[in-house]
Amino acid sequence: MSSEQVSTNIITPNSEDCETIEAGVSGASVKKVYRSSGWVVIKSHQDIGIDETNGRNLLSPYLKLPEVLEFDDNSIVYPYIPGPNLDQLATISPDNALGPIRNTLTAHVAMWNSTCNQEPATGGYVAKIAKTEKILWEARLAQNSLTDLATNDFIINGVKIGKINQALYVLKSTIESAAQRGSVLTHGDEGWNNHILAPTGEVFSIDFGTAGRRIPGEAIAKFIGWFPAVAISALDYNLFIENGQAILTTETKLDPSLASLVKDGVLPELQGFIDTQGRSSEVAACLMTYFIRELQWLKKRGREEMEPHLIAMALSCLPAIMNGKLNLSFLE
Ligand SMILES: Nc1ncnc2c1ncn2[C@@H]1O[C@H](COP(=O)(O)OP(=O)(O)OP(=O)(O)O)[C@@H](O)[C@H]1O
Ligand SMILES: [Mg+2]
Repeated sequence: MSSEQVSTNIITPNSEDCETIEAGVSGASVKKVYRSSGWVVIKSHQDIGIDETNGRNLLSPYLKLPEVLEFDDNSIVYPYIPGPNLDQLATISPDNALGPIRNTLTAHVAMWNSTCNQEPATGGYVAKIAKTEKILWEARLAQNSLTDLATNDFIINGVKIGKINQALYVLKSTIESAAQRGSVLTHGDEGWNNHILAPTGEVFSIDFGTAGRRIPGEAIAKFIGWFPAVAISALDYNLFIENGQAILTTETKLDPSLASLVKDGVLPELQGFIDTQGRSSEVAACLMTYFIRELQWLKKRGREEMEPHLIAMALSCLPAIMNGKLNLSFLE
């Protein structure tokens, strides 16, 4: 299928047309509205006009972004881009998504390389360590919170992980030492739903209100982890507690074409940057953080059954953090 065939149908405009676009997890209101100049998208949320114009100024030298038609503090207007988000395209037609996904990654890697410096990262995951720890401690496995299970040594899908507080200590120290190494400019919300393929074949990045300097592992984790976190389905899990051990086994299913898109499309584009900069442990720590943080959106995404599976995916990143070998077991 060509990219044109999967584009959103353009509705015949009339001056009354206005539709609400399904809200994401950010809480912003997003409306598609017809104006005499054509279709526009109006986003409204507290400070969104300030945040997205700031983000646009930072990113515009590096990424293709929609122009701002109008804004005030709490709203912003963009031209409507008539095309699929890359996550939709990947689901409908993975072959057609591969090229645009690669091009998007190339642009982001170039941005990280151009903006890399020794300014310590203070934003993003570094600033969210305490909140991330809280999310994990409050997460639930069967009838237990992880706080209830704190004294147990975890074995997840046959791999010894150890105690949660030890895992969180390793996570925190890895993120903090990565932050001390320096930072790069990142988009800030790199999930594949925030990239739109225009009919011209160009990919527009949207939703850039949190652009800023971060450790690059965070952006990489969002690119690698998006499909596993959002598109994996829960099959079954089992928790067995015995002699101070919490033995967790999980079964999930990820569409094989999405899994190979990540393995053969996303990862190879990022591997050079990860290897050259020696950032495998950092990426694994950011993946663990990303999966933990996704736990807070499960209810909004209607995916509460994924809780034990995301916990397992998060904690299974620990060996890779410790030995510096990225192991994407969640793609198997
Ligand atoms: N300029 C645009 N042209 C076409 N569609 C758009 C445009 N801006 C936003 N959208 C659509 O609206 C959706 C939500 O917009 P956006 O990502 O900016 O808001 P959000 O609520 O912050 O999203 P989330 O919380 O899911 O990240 C996008 O995924 C996209 O489908
Ligand atoms: Mg979005």
